[in-house]
Amino acid sequence: MKKILITGGAGYIGSHTAVELINSGFEPIIIDDFSNSQESVLDRLEEITGRKITCYQGDCADRSLLDQVAKDHQLSGVIHFAAFKAVGESTELPLKYYRNNLVSLIEIMEFMRDHKIQDLVFSSSCTVYGQPDILPVTEATPRKDAESPYGNTKKVCEDMLVDFVKSKPGIRVISLRYFNPVGAHPSGKIGELPQGKPNNLVPFVTQTAAGIREKLTVFGDDYDTPDGSCVRDFIHVMDLADAHVKALAYLDEKQNNFYDVFNVGTGKGDTVLQVIKTFEEVTNVKLNYEIGPRRPGDVVKIWADTKKINEVLGWYPKYSLADSMRDSWNWQKGL
Ligand SMILES: NC(=O)c1ccc[n+]([C@@H]2O[C@H](COP(=O)([O-])OP(=O)(O)OC[C@H]3O[C@@H](n4cnc5c(N)ncnc54)[C@H](O)[C@@H]3O)[C@@H](O)[C@H]2O)c1
Repeated sequence: MKKILITGGAGYIGSHTAVELINSGFEPIIIDDFSNSQESVLDRLEEITGRKITCYQGDCADRSLLDQVAKDHQLSGVIHFAAFKAVGESTELPLKYYRNNLVSLIEIMEFMRDHKIQDLVFSSSCTVYGQPDILPVTEATPRKDAESPYGNTKKVCEDMLVDFVKSKPGIRVISLRYFNPVGAHPSGKIGELPQGKPNNLVPFVTQTAAGIREKLTVFGDDYDTPDGSCVRDFIHVMDLADAHVKALAYLDEKQNNFYDVFNVGTGKGDTVLQVIKTFEEVTNVKLNYEIGPRRPGDVVKIWADTKKINEVLGWYPKYSLADSMRDSWNWQKGL
């Protein structure tokens, strides 16, 4: 069974990917410092998969920890999820974001080089496109100046990966540019676990529905979109997890140095108000929401062109927005 190191494997996307890796015959080896997740996720993973989960608690930028993992396990590849991701906080504390997101990737690349580990899947983001001039965005759409230090860390990480691949024979890397991950494992045992006030729409929706938050504010309803609210491409986290498995399989076929990027979205844009409506329809819960002013810095509309990932990796999303809302609510109720 091939062992894959997953940094940040106790987090939202990492934990769902661990499940999909096990379902596909891989063994995930997790490193997580639990800076934005809880140890209890590991028990949940064991409940879902019926397997013992191996996890090393610590910083994935700690080279001695990485070396210990490589001593204990023969690794076939790495999926690097670990990063800080709060856009707003990154503006207040940019160095915290540059240190964690950049230094951890540098350590991972040096670790791969020294231990002759060839394959890496990196968590990038559609944030690298900023507000695109033409929609939907393809992988060839030019990246824009980042709107936040967080967004810039993703751009710089992508650039570092390109240079790393050029410099070292046999290194094979895919950057997956995630659009907006939503939903939870259909069992309701794992899902997004924001610490404090959520930064993302769907946890805010489910927490408002659960009475944890009094009210949801929709930031602007006068944009040039079907109903005036912002448009995003909401991708179910299980579909996103599956994209990582497909990416690893694809890298395994490559003989030489290889680098490529893929959008991971549904190819369809939905507005914030459509998300609210879908949530209400699927759950029969009325949401307390209000329309507020536009939020500075918000991208108005973005969705993915997914032709490349469909055709090259053979990946297609299976879950709908309604499935995502059902699974997110199921998870929230369990909390
Ligand atoms: N969720 C999104 O909306 C989204 C969108 C695009 C890209 N991404 C990227 O996907 C990746 C995963 O995101 P997520 O939503 O699962 O976030 P998350 O915060 O739920 O998961 C990240 C995990 O990494 C851990 N971590 C952070 N720094 C670490 C370090 N130095 N060493 C060890 N563990 C560390 C955290 O404890 C957490 O468990 C991130 O790189 C993020 O930037 C996320």
